[in-house]
Formats: sequence, C-alpha cells, structure tokens
Amino acid sequence: MKRRTFVKTAAAAALGALSQPLPSLAADVEIELSPGNAGPVISPHIYGHFIEHLGGVIYDGVWVGRNSSIPNVDGIRKQFVDDMKRIGAPNLRWPGGCFADGYHWRDGIGKASARPRTYNYWQRSMPPGMDATETNQFGIQEFMHLCRTVGAEPYLAANVGSGSPREFHEWVQYCNAPAGTVSLAAERAANGDPEPYRVRYWGVGNESWGCGGAMKPEEYATLYRRFVTQFPAYTEPFLVATGPRGHSADGDIGWTTGFFGAMRGAAPPNGFSVHYYTDFRPTTVKAGDFTPAEWYEVFLRGVRLEKVIEDHWREMGKFDSIHRTKLVVDEWGVWYPPGSEIAPGYILSETITLRDALHTSMTFDIFNRHADKIAMANVAQTINCIHSLFLAHGADFVRTPVYYVFDMYRSHMGGRVVPVKNPLPSMKVPALAGTGSLAAISCSASIRDNRLTVTFTNPSLDASLQARIRLTGGATPIEARGQVLTHQNMRATNTFAKPEEVKPMAHPVKVVGDAIELSLVKQSVTLIDCRIA
Ligand code: AHR
Repeated sequence: MKRRTFVKTAAAAALGALSQPLPSLAADVEIELSPGNAGPVISPHIYGHFIEHLGGVIYDGVWVGRNSSIPNVDGIRKQFVDDMKRIGAPNLRWPGGCFADGYHWRDGIGKASARPRTYNYWQRSMPPGMDATETNQFGIQEFMHLCRTVGAEPYLAANVGSGSPREFHEWVQYCNAPAGTVSLAAERAANGDPEPYRVRYWGVGNESWGCGGAMKPEEYATLYRRFVTQFPAYTEPFLVATGPRGHSADGDIGWTTGFFGAMRGAAPPNGFSVHYYTDFRPTTVKAGDFTPAEWYEVFLRGVRLEKVIEDHWREMGKFDSIHRTKLVVDEWGVWYPPGSEIAPGYILSETITLRDALHTSMTFDIFNRHADKIAMANVAQTINCIHSLFLAHGADFVRTPVYYVFDMYRSHMGGRVVPVKNPLPSMKVPALAGTGSLAAISCSASIRDNRLTVTFTNPSLDASLQARIRLTGGATPIEARGQVLTHQNMRATNTFAKPEEVKPMAHPVKVVGDAIELSLVKQSVTLIDCRIA
C-alpha cells in the first residue's frame, strides 16, 4: 500500500468514518532493519525504577514489616521482590522525589524502635484528618537490602533543599567508606552492614526549581558545585544534577541554558535529570474511564517527550559539544487528576489501564531510539503511585498492564539499537482539540549477539495492520517468536479481584525468506524475538 493511501485509510478508520476493514495486502507497514549497522548500547538503566515516601508507596507497598502476616523478606513485601527480579529491575531511585529535600538520612538508621517520627512533605496532600508522619522504619539499610535482594543498583537523591554539603558527604561516607576507615563506616558496621554499599548514582537534589528549593538555575548551579566539590570519592560516582521540568508548556529550556551557563569552567555532572509527566492534572481526563479522544490524547502528549529529549540535548551541546553529561529521565509517567486511588491516603495511586501500557511502550521506543543520549530513566513510580507497575493494599497485590510492558521490553536491555531505516506512516486521530496527528506505529529494535528484538505499538482503536520486517545487510532470520499485550476493551485493567485481565499472550510470527511477517492487532503492544544468522 502506498504511504499516502495508508495515512488516509488509517485516519478514516481511527475517526470511525470507515466501516470496511483495511484492504488485505501483503503488508500495510514494512520496516527495514540492518542489524549489521547497529548503533549505541541501550543502557539497562533506561528500564529503571523510583520509590518515594509518599502515600502507600513505601509503607504497605514495599515495606510490610518483619512481623507482618504478608509474606516478606526481612520486612519487604515478597511478591514485590519476586516480580522486580523477574523483570530484571536494574536500579531503584529513593527516597524521593519531593520527600528527598526534607529527608535527613540519620533519622533512618540504627535500632528501628529508637528512630524518630518526622514530618513528611506529602502531609500537605493527604486527605483532611489523615496523617503522613514518617516513622523512619524504612531507612538506608532497609533500602540497600531491598536493592541487594532484587539485584538493582541504588540511586540515592540527596537533600539539597534543606540539607547541607556536610550532611550529604556524611551520607556518602556512611554508605561507601570501607570498614576500618572513618567512624561512619564503623557506625554502619555496628548497624549490621560491615561491607560498604558502594552507591554509585547520586542525585544532587530533586526538582530544585520547585519542591526542592524553588531556585533559579544559576542559584542551583552554585549549590551544586558546593555539594559536589568535596564529594568523598570511595566509589567513582555518577552525579546527577537537577534538570528541567520537561512537561512545562515551553519545555523549560531556560533551566538548561541557565544551569550550564552558570557551570562554565566547573566539572560537568555525569547526568542531567529531566522530569517528563504526561500531565493531565489540570484536565478532566480520568485514569480509568475515558473516551477514544482521551485514549489518543495520552499518546499525543506522551510522545512529546521525544522533542523534549532532542531540545535539551541540543541545548546541552552548546556548552559541551562532546556531551560529557548524559540525560537521566528520572521521573516519567501519565499523571491523572485524583479520583481512582486504591484507598484513602494512598495519594497519587491511579487505575492503570491498557492505555497506560501503550504509553509505556511508546516511551520505551523513544528511550531506545535515543540510547546515545539517555543514561538512565526511572518510572514514577513503581508501586502505588502514578504510573505504577504494581498496586498493593494489605494482603492484596496486582501487576498492572504497565508491568507487562516492562517484562516484554526486557530483551532490549543491553542490546545495541538497530535503526529503523524507512519512515513510518502517520494517522489522524480524534483528540481533545478535535484531531491530532500520531505515528500509526511506534517501533524500536535492538540486537544482542544473534538475537534481534523488535517492539511495535499499534495505538489504533480500529485498524489492525499487517507488518513485514525486512532484514538487510546480509542478516537472515532463522526463527522468531511473538508476544502481544492487548484487550478488546481499551479501558481494560487488572484489579485485586481480576488480576489477570490484561496480560501478554503468544502471538504468531512467520519467517519468510529475509523477512518476518506478523499482524499488529489494534490497541496492542507486540514483541518479536528473532534468532538471526
Ligand atoms: O512522583 C511524584 C512527585 O512528582 C515527586 O515527588 C516529584 O519529584 C514530582 O513532582
């Protein structure tokens, strides 16, 4: 089918103006991949996580306590540990978020019963009459045990907003100093961990333009330098500076210009954080109940992340042409207005539907395509908050549709990006503003050894498509298998009562000569794993 014909047909189908199915031709979409020309490695850290002391994230979500009747590993919910292992969670960002800039790490060490009860930033967002006092039962030791049990690297956010360089450096010493050196290493050993934690990833503040201190970029750059200059380098650090609010209407380029302008002559950070929420808080778009226009709107807004990445990268290049600083998208997800919380006080927990699963796969395709720029990304947040992979309440636990996308995309981790050579068609879709233009297919590909991984998202509510992946440059497909995540109902979700409503199924894939053929069913995410010669 010619590209123009496809665009017209898909647009009409998406708008509901066409009742007949798409003509059954050999392929509606053909992509060309040349695994021999693979590009940069997709850092496994792109598939990273984030948990914060907020609502039901830590207490109940992650930490049930050692004496709980809920199965646990030293107080950590066992099901959470098992599922995080299953998806190969590469890292965990903690303790916030906004919470981080009010957190004093010493409150969370030592005998649990002697730890103080402290104020939590999120108190202000709790329903009237509900308390959010921080009990500090989950501190650095519990967090490190979680990371070790899961096999994830820790990524700690330091308190710049209400802390000091000294408090930061002492935390680094407590975590990383070898036993038998400074007193803080002896204190860690006395608390049960003689071996250093060897934390490598350190965020120097969080959202310093907002809850992290309401600073101007130049003010933050000054503080950043003070916080890192005497960093106790027991373990070679990867320091992440606070970057822009990428979902601002103007993309917040001014933050990037201001920060790097003020950093001229200083050692650049290893990472520069970008937060990008597909932010529906100021709208009436709901998490669980929505129209077709609201289905597409999530994708139209979600894929703007690609431009945000490109714009900030270009801006950073003006100050550092060899790009020593990489992007760290350490908060991303779809943020809906309140109304679908799993329980009072579990603030920011949302119903997660098939729509959010497709948003996730499109986001991962963007990250994969920009693997040269992105060192790490962290979903906000892993459990009981915004774009969750899991919802938990007491003994109830469920994997959301988003979890399954993390599972399906595992095989991209550590692969080298294979660029899609030909352009993909676009379609007109209903949207909040009337109509919008959306890529008819989202796609990314990677290669590791002789395994080719291709992921597709078909966001259309009407049109299934025939796809052909043609391998060029001498590569031949030997055998392939597919998996699809979809549901007849665009609002489908997994609940405590029906936990397996949305989950992946095997999907037929055919190897024909130098090509792989399959159908991309409407409203679906598809994974193809192929052995090539
Ligand atoms: O993820 C919830 C909050 O969103 C985080 O605490 C903050 O960094 C962001 O504004």
